[in-house]
Amino acid sequence: MCGIFGVIGQNAVSSTLRALKLLEYRGYDSAGIAVKREGFLEICKTEGRIAKLQQLAQALSEGRTAIGHTRWATHGEVSTANAHPFLSPNGKFAIVHNGILENYAELKAQLGKEKFTSQTDSEVVAHLLEREHRGNVLETVLTVSRMLKGSFAIVVLSTEDNKLFAIKNKSPLVVGFSQTGSYLCSDIRCVAHWANSVAVTPDNTVVELSDSSARFFTLDGAPLKVDFFVPEAGESLPQTDGDLMLKEITEIPDKLRRAKQAYFDGGGLQLTVEQARKIRRIYLVGCGTAYNSGMQAISVARQWLDVDAIPVIAGEFIYDNYPVDGDTLSIFISQSGETADTLRAAERVREMGGITYAVTNTAGSSLTFACRHTINIGAGGEFAVASTKAYNCQLVSLTLLLLDLGRMRGTVPFSFYSKLVEEMDALPDAVSQILEESYLVARLAERVKDCSAVFYIGRTTDYPTACEGSLKLKEISYIHSEAYPAGELKHGTLALIDDSVCVVAISTDKALKDKMVSSVKEVTSRGAKVVSVAPYELPDCEPLLLPALHPALAGIVAAVPLQLLAYYVAKRLGRDVDKPRNLAKSVTVE
Ligand code: M6R
Repeated sequence: MCGIFGVIGQNAVSSTLRALKLLEYRGYDSAGIAVKREGFLEICKTEGRIAKLQQLAQALSEGRTAIGHTRWATHGEVSTANAHPFLSPNGKFAIVHNGILENYAELKAQLGKEKFTSQTDSEVVAHLLEREHRGNVLETVLTVSRMLKGSFAIVVLSTEDNKLFAIKNKSPLVVGFSQTGSYLCSDIRCVAHWANSVAVTPDNTVVELSDSSARFFTLDGAPLKVDFFVPEAGESLPQTDGDLMLKEITEIPDKLRRAKQAYFDGGGLQLTVEQARKIRRIYLVGCGTAYNSGMQAISVARQWLDVDAIPVIAGEFIYDNYPVDGDTLSIFISQSGETADTLRAAERVREMGGITYAVTNTAGSSLTFACRHTINIGAGGEFAVASTKAYNCQLVSLTLLLLDLGRMRGTVPFSFYSKLVEEMDALPDAVSQILEESYLVARLAERVKDCSAVFYIGRTTDYPTACEGSLKLKEISYIHSEAYPAGELKHGTLALIDDSVCVVAISTDKALKDKMVSSVKEVTSRGAKVVSVAPYELPDCEPLLLPALHPALAGIVAAVPLQLLAYYVAKRLGRDVDKPRNLAKSVTVE
């Protein structure tokens, strides 16, 4: 949510505009830039996308110090007035903010009759900087930092010196250096386009950045040592004339190979046999698609694990009372590694002494610092808001992890283990086969696009796939959609079924085929159109045929036609599939 960037170096305006384009996935309703001039700060901001800001910013001449912001609105409507940066009334400070200031109303009240130009929580920081300024900017920033509550990564530009300052708590902030400049940024992958040395700023820290050094302080002003490291090379925004989502779906075969390789290259499950045998419970924690992949992996692994394994939505985990002790294994799944709910849950488990694993697509992300162990899913940069290839790769990593655990606990025979690991090599071709026939999905989309609602149904291991298909469709097509275990419809939802509705029936387990046939009958007899996603045809359904695979791996492939269906339906409805309304790729607020 929101991307922030600050730079000291040559061509600061161009670098900031380029960085904002790379950060646009974090929020795309408005954007702005502030650049330091001799004795004043110049601001350019607008509602709308970065492309619009780039047009307007052509009027700006280059500078050496600049900050920028791309917004996902929390407080205040989408408008130019609510776009960042915000200036202090005397024009001496400009700030950009990612996060939520929970005590902004209280702070605003303290500022009395001061005139605010926006409805945001963020603007109050610019006013506080002016009020607290006694001559030393670092002291001013430290004083203000102690007044703030909530989650924030704030970058401060002032007219006073050639430095940038930042305040960080619970929103990502990376500091970086190249030969020619220094940087502050929300995203390690973005800053790695310039920086060859980076540091992830800890919570409750103030940063003072000059063109060649960074100093870190606790909020009390005590110096803090923070380690720098070499980041993985920054991945460019893919150049494609088409949609990123479709491009990312077509990458799935290759990325599945990489996910398997990355798991073994990373050393797999780094527990001793004794530790593995002592585990008493497992949580798989994530949000949205990442939660669905945890649910899917567990539904399969239940067949071989002799320990309670529960998928939990991260935002619930934080405030509920799930027991954690030293024998609890918690696996935090996050493509970005920056999702606030997932991070908070990981921090909680770590504090309580549990074993923490990050399963992520982003090396050096905050989640990798919050967890003891990391498994990289190897999906490569995912930029479309709708997560696709990361889901399939998460399933490969999680399946291998849970298989390894079973093997160490003695519940997975080596023959089963090696057979499944070997059969994973069939996944890329199976997905390629579906991709080659994507015209069939596109044809079906023509019929689905006019439905009033789409229900996805599946039993056991197919239910999580149904959830993922439904999430994909609703987020990019805006058609109402829900997922149910197939047997559950008759307990209420059947009341909604009529001839305006479509049902997608997922059935990868032949042993449950007859049960699914009955569920299909229940809905077709009430007028619904039914699409089946199965390795065989089902009566009265429009079939999307799946290649035959080991049942433990079927869900990894079954998600692909559903990703394609969501994509083609959204395209036919004229939606902006890569940047759907109201959403952002990385959800860094709770
Ligand atoms: O980066 P994360 O995997 O932690 O993101 C979690 C969810 O926000 C994400 O999967 C979201 O549900 C996607 N937009 C779904 O396509």
